[in-house]
Parts: sequence; structure tokens; C-alpha cells
Amino acid sequence: MDLNPVINVENVSKSFIVGRSLGRNTFLGEAHWIISLIIRVLKEGRILRALKDINLNVNGGELCCILGPNGSGKSTLLKIIAGMIEPDKGNVRVYGFNPITERSKVLDKIFFYSSSQRYSLDYSLTVRDQIEFYLKMLGRSASILDEKAQLCIKFLDLERYLKTPIRFLSSGYRQRVSLTRLLLTEKELILLDEPTLGLDPTLNRRLILFLKKLNKEKNATIIIATNRVHLVEELEPDKVFILSKGELIAEGSPSYLISLIRDKYVIKIEVANVNKNVIREIKSLDGISDVSIKMISNNRFEIAIFTNTREIFKEVYDFVVAKGLHIQDMYLIEPSFEDVYLKLTGGDFYFEQF
Ligand SMILES: Nc1ncnc2c1ncn2[C@@H]1O[C@H](COP(=O)(O)OP(=O)(O)OP(=O)(O)O)[C@@H](O)[C@H]1O
Ligand SMILES: [Mg+2]
Repeated sequence: MDLNPVINVENVSKSFIVGRSLGRNTFLGEAHWIISLIIRVLKEGRILRALKDINLNVNGGELCCILGPNGSGKSTLLKIIAGMIEPDKGNVRVYGFNPITERSKVLDKIFFYSSSQRYSLDYSLTVRDQIEFYLKMLGRSASILDEKAQLCIKFLDLERYLKTPIRFLSSGYRQRVSLTRLLLTEKELILLDEPTLGLDPTLNRRLILFLKKLNKEKNATIIIATNRVHLVEELEPDKVFILSKGELIAEGSPSYLISLIRDKYVIKIEVANVNKNVIREIKSLDGISDVSIKMISNNRFEIAIFTNTREIFKEVYDFVVAKGLHIQDMYLIEPSFEDVYLKLTGGDFYFEQF
């Protein structure tokens, strides 16, 4: 891995105005857009802050993840790096250039892929025609017999669908077709927004191995935006940037982030019922530094209790039973990356809404 900075993001902020659009009015042109903007702000007055003062650096050859809950700003940040959205404030440099004003200097280096691109496939084309179209866009001879294209078709298990129109494919297979672009690219900076969304476990695993190989063997710099902690654990990236409500709340390698947690142990309790008061009471017990919770299914919750002492195990067990919680499983482990992530982002208190 070289240590040349490829991406510098300095004090980047971005807000969106949320409101109903007044629709198109070609008669008033640009003026209509400005009037519409003013009315939207005055009427609904909602300015949504997507990113606030983000600073980060990525070096050449690094494999990085941007991780955060829904709406935390991951896609916005990735699009800003790709030069697709302009920040309101701050500086972005990609290979030393501004990705918007000096776009031509970086365009042949950046590859951007979002799983939502499966909706922009031409549904009337066959899989074969779509792949040939991608090859043409890459300036290759549009031959499906291209050796790399053949490998990619095998990798994605698309052989038997080559003559099938895309509109007849399942959404996962449409996703596979759109992923051929990623497999065919030879660009050095790969920006991926939820690339494994909708894929089955087999292809999910295959894609993870492909990305690791692309990073190691071709020295590609890869940034993956995702809200799936397990994807990050499997990718074992050099750096993770954790976003929460538009702010960068932590960054570093997974092992570094785990080391930030001073607690040596996590007591995990799977329960059938839980409420916020009990969580609060567990948190106030001596020797416990924090408690987070994850909903596993409608009637299964995992409570994670952070502590430095093994001895507290029995006391916690008695306390939880006395509170009437039905324990299904209970064990003590060292903190995992997921525990750290849940602790940093505040856990999942969804069940409290019902
Ligand atoms: N074009 C837009 N117009 C208005 N608001 C937007 C726009 N794009 C993003 N936002 C808002 O900015 C915030 C961050 O959105 P963003 O898509 O970056 O989140 P995300 O972390 O990628 O979420 P997800 O995990 O759901 O993909 C959200 O509150 C979203 O509603
Ligand atoms: Mg997103």
C-alpha cells in the first residue's frame, strides 16, 4: 500500500432543503426554481443537515468503509467525493483535484457504483445486450466473448440468463447484471454504495472476496458505504469511518475502534421481553459502564452489558430475573466490532415505539 493521499475531505458540510416541489414551469425557467426554493423554505422551513464538518483522509491502496445507520449521510459523502454533489462548505480533493471543478482530471480514475443503479438498467435489453453495452462504454470491443466478460458472467452466475430480457429477472439478478460494471472496471478509485444490497449469501461472500482481491492485487483504493456491520467485519478494512446524524463520530481500523472501548468484557443476554427502564437500571449497577440493545426478532432482544469484571455476571443474572425478563441465553465475551458500533451509535430502541 502506498501512503499517498488519494482523498482529502476538509470541514465538509451539506444541507438539503426538504419540502414539496412546485413542479416544473418552463415558462418562468430559472426564476421559477428560485421562487419555488424561497416558498419551500418559507412555507415548510425545513433545512435538513446531511453532513456536518467532516474531515477525513484516504491513502492510495486503502480499503475503507463508511458505516452508519440509515440517513446518517453515507451516500451524500460518497457522492461528494465522487464529484456528483457539491458541498455547501469545505474542501474536497481527489488525487489533489477538486472533483467538480477539475472533473476531467479525475474522471478516468473514479468508478462509482450504487446498488440503486439496478433500477437504471434498460429492462427491454437482454442480459447479453446490457453487458455488451457496458463493454462498449468501457471502450472495449463489445464482444461478450471478451475473456474478462466471460469470467464476470461466470462469477455472477449469469450464463443461463444471457438471452433473457432484464424485465424477467428477479431483483437480485438485476443487481448482478448491474454489478458487471464493477467487475469490468479497471479504475483505481472504487466508490461503492451498498454494493451487496439484495444479494444472496453466496454472491455476497463472493463479492467480498473479489473486493479484497481487487484491493490487494491491483492496489485499488476502495471505499464502501454501508449500514451493515457484518459486511464491515467480513471485509476487514484498513479504516472505518462511522457516521451518525451527519457527523463523523469515530474512525480507524476495526481493531483500533474495539480498543477504544475500555471494557474488557461484554455480557450478552438474549431475552424475550425488555423495556427501557430495566436497561436504565442495569446501567446504574456498580461495575457496568454502558448497556446497548439490539432487536433480533419481534420477541427476541440482545442486551449487551459493558464491564471490566467477570464477577458481576451472577449479580446481573439475578437482577434481570428479578425484573421479570425471560432469559433465553446469557454469556460473557470480549467486545466485538458490532458491540463497539452499537455502543457508539446508541443501540436500537425501536421496540420502545410500540
Ligand atoms: N437529494 C436530497 N434531498 C433532500 N434530502 C436529502 C437528499 N439526499 C439526502 N437527503 C437527506 O440527507 C440525509 C442523509 O442522507 P443519505 O442518503 O446520505 O444517508 P445514508 O447514510 O446514505 O442512508 P441510507 O443508509 O438509508 O442509505 C437524510 O436525512 C436524507 O433524507
Ligand atoms: Mg445511502
